Amino acid sequence: MREVPERIRRLPEQYFTALLARVAAAAARGGEPLVDLGRGNPELGPPEHVVQTLTECAGRHDVHGYAPFSGLPALKEAIATRYGELYGVHIDSAREVAVVPGTKTGLMEFALCAVEGGGTIVLPDPGYPDYFSAVALAGAKQVAFSGFDVTADAMYLNFPSNPTAAAVTDGLFEEAIEWADQTGAWILHDFAYGDLVFDGRRPQSFLAVEHARRVGIELFSMSKTYGMAGWRLGFALGNAELVRRIELLQDHAFAGIFRPVQEAGIAALTGPQNSVEERRATYERRRDRALVALEGIEAQSEGTFFVWLRLPDGITVEDLLVRHRVAVAPGEGFGARGAGWARLSLAVRDDILDRGLERLCAAFA
Ligand SMILES: Cc1ncc(COP(=O)(O)O)c(C=O)c1O
Repeated sequence: MREVPERIRRLPEQYFTALLARVAAAAARGGEPLVDLGRGNPELGPPEHVVQTLTECAGRHDVHGYAPFSGLPALKEAIATRYGELYGVHIDSAREVAVVPGTKTGLMEFALCAVEGGGTIVLPDPGYPDYFSAVALAGAKQVAFSGFDVTADAMYLNFPSNPTAAAVTDGLFEEAIEWADQTGAWILHDFAYGDLVFDGRRPQSFLAVEHARRVGIELFSMSKTYGMAGWRLGFALGNAELVRRIELLQDHAFAGIFRPVQEAGIAALTGPQNSVEERRATYERRRDRALVALEGIEAQSEGTFFVWLRLPDGITVEDLLVRHRVAVAPGEGFGARGAGWARLSLAVRDDILDRGLERLCAAFA
């Protein structure tokens, strides 16, 4: 048997692959059809004009070769303009934007570009499990966030948060920037759910805070705001040195993004924006429905398309799956502090959500 390189061996179990496999195995055992509220896979696609741009562009003969490795300048300008208009952030599109094939890739690249092997990265706990993979790939050590009295080389922040659905608290970005300035650490703010905030909150970009770009970058995803998860398109914005390193890594490891996807990305960013608010409002409405149905259970959601809930004593996610035929994402997979909690997805059709909530209520009764 040929030896497996250490960098592959140290990768953790991929949380979502394992979750999908458990749900598929339970479904295959037969019985009532399962209701899957475990996955965060947007069920609403992008607006029609975006799909149309993709198909029209794909029909051209001159778009099938390699696209420019670092992305179309017009795409970078489009996201920079959006940042200016929506978040009040001025971005130099030539120096402060890297186009990435999804922010999942971007968050791996950040670890590789910012931290030396053996370095330390602070992660949210509970937090998005792919951060564990990024730390492992970079050969770094992870520490769970417990305030800014910590020595590290980088820190991941994520608001609104997957899985806790919490919005950023006042002053937290400022504190993080001060910490990074004093320690020389880098910061990554994962803004994947940035536009999906509830109860009258306004989207809060990390880069809107003074000096943020001196210490880090923000990831913006097309997956959630525009329902383009399968398209694999996102951005790393902010610190010009980190942007340059990410583009350098991509020049070696990737060969650009299919041009029609980039053109459609421009159409999404610059065209009518009513779908963004409609999508946000849809998730807020479903969040309201879920919180009403789960009355009496400790549950929260200030944004994203998730509800984070505490499992009543004696109830496990496995029980819910096997006995009650409803899948939710187990909290401990997001970090030690997630134990005893679960994440429920609102990115499903209303009737599926309702059926899932009925089963949860029956299980909790
Ligand atoms: C917190 C968080 N960050 C990043 C991502 C990756 O998003 P994408 O690679 O589709 O841009 C996800 C996807 O679920 C996420 O939940």
